[in-house]
Amino acid sequence: MNPKTNRILFVSLFFCISLSLQLSAQQREYVIPEFAKNWSKPGQHPDHIVLNFSEDPSESVSVTWRTSTEITQGYAEIAIASAAPKFWRNAKTIEAKTETMDARKVETAGVVSNYHSVTFSGLTSDTLYAYRVGDGKIWSEWIQFRTASKASKPFSFLYVGDAQNYILELWSRLIREGYRKAPYASFIIHAGDMINDAHSERQWHEWFTAGGWIHRMLPSISVPGNHEYRPLSTKKKENNIRSLSVQWKHQFTLPENGPEIDELKETVYFTDYQDLRVISLNSNLKQEEQIEWLEKVLKNNPKKWVVVTYHHPLFSASSGRDNTRLRSLWKPIFDKYKVDLALQGHDHSYARGRTEPYLAADEQNVLDGLNTRDYTGTVYVVSVSGGKMYKLRPNGWEGWDAQRDRAAENTQLVQLISIDGDKLSYQSFTATGELYDAFDLIKQSDGRPNKFIEKRGYAIDPRRHDNTINYQDQPSEDR
Ligand SMILES: [Fe+2]
Repeated sequence: MNPKTNRILFVSLFFCISLSLQLSAQQREYVIPEFAKNWSKPGQHPDHIVLNFSEDPSESVSVTWRTSTEITQGYAEIAIASAAPKFWRNAKTIEAKTETMDARKVETAGVVSNYHSVTFSGLTSDTLYAYRVGDGKIWSEWIQFRTASKASKPFSFLYVGDAQNYILELWSRLIREGYRKAPYASFIIHAGDMINDAHSERQWHEWFTAGGWIHRMLPSISVPGNHEYRPLSTKKKENNIRSLSVQWKHQFTLPENGPEIDELKETVYFTDYQDLRVISLNSNLKQEEQIEWLEKVLKNNPKKWVVVTYHHPLFSASSGRDNTRLRSLWKPIFDKYKVDLALQGHDHSYARGRTEPYLAADEQNVLDGLNTRDYTGTVYVVSVSGGKMYKLRPNGWEGWDAQRDRAAENTQLVQLISIDGDKLSYQSFTATGELYDAFDLIKQSDGRPNKFIEKRGYAIDPRRHDNTINYQDQPSEDR
């Protein structure tokens, strides 16, 4: 070959290689990493440590953790935290309730472990505590949390939709961004589909690993989604009835103040935190049977604000979805008792909107002479925190007698909600920390519905609770 032919061949080869590299970069598909076989197995060291509220967050809190079955007795220690490191000299030691979860025959779980739980009670309100868990020899780190105040004080909390997919790979950055936005948040609401395959120990391990110590510092208020209900076996001939995640009741210690219906235990409950009542519902089953209990806890609500959370949205965000039956069952109750905010999941996109203010027969003229658009009924939100995304419903909430104000697709989001007396401030942040959506609700004292103030580009510093305004440039169109 002469030098000219060589040069042509060399250039052609170089061109082919660079073209194929470019093409492979463009076509590269995301591959879920293969974890080591024993990665999610329990050991002697406590893990999956999670805080949950019990009856009264100003006096008590529950902690649950996992070990191998070698650890047959667990203990928790708790003391009022101080900056002096030997605060633990005043610690109280409490024996844990230990139960074995033998899920070796459940294919996706394939694990036997011990779960230990302690409810710390008789605590002082509005006080910083430190606790640790272990077996008396092997301990976790000391972990700090603050009890709720008995008085009305400003506070904030986080809310996330479905973590569900790519939990370790992608939910981790979202939940950590949430913590960065609100390090002093009082708790986190998880609106279901926290993992994809209800009983998968590996996916729960991803959830606990992605959230890391956030789960042990900020109590979780969790409701199950449809992905927390799966058959125990994938083999068709065997039992294919959907069962609640085998881990659910073992790994969370949730309030048992729900309806007296076995299937709803630890999935339907309420939590009172300072000026707020949070009602957790189970949208997967026995939806009608929850109404009597729901009416009771709404009717006897001593709190100024009420937030409901459940998985399947009453007003769907995504294309081709509509939970008509659920809407007809629950919306009239939310209307009647003037629920302020409904926090939902399931649709893998974002939608926030509202219904007309509901006025009872004797309230018909409270808005006379006022602009009704400034007042609102329940505000409904669907959000997604994990990596799976669906297309938005094209025509907003048309045909549903509700108005969608803001929507997003292909965006991981975390919400920060702050309550300060008569004001509830809502903000939604992207996984990269940008403010995407914000509004305020102002509680009215004269029987009027909540005043609604759109706050695009509005941010408050959650550490200050003084509503510092920090305007930023925001796109005005939906995305
Ligand atoms: Fe779902």
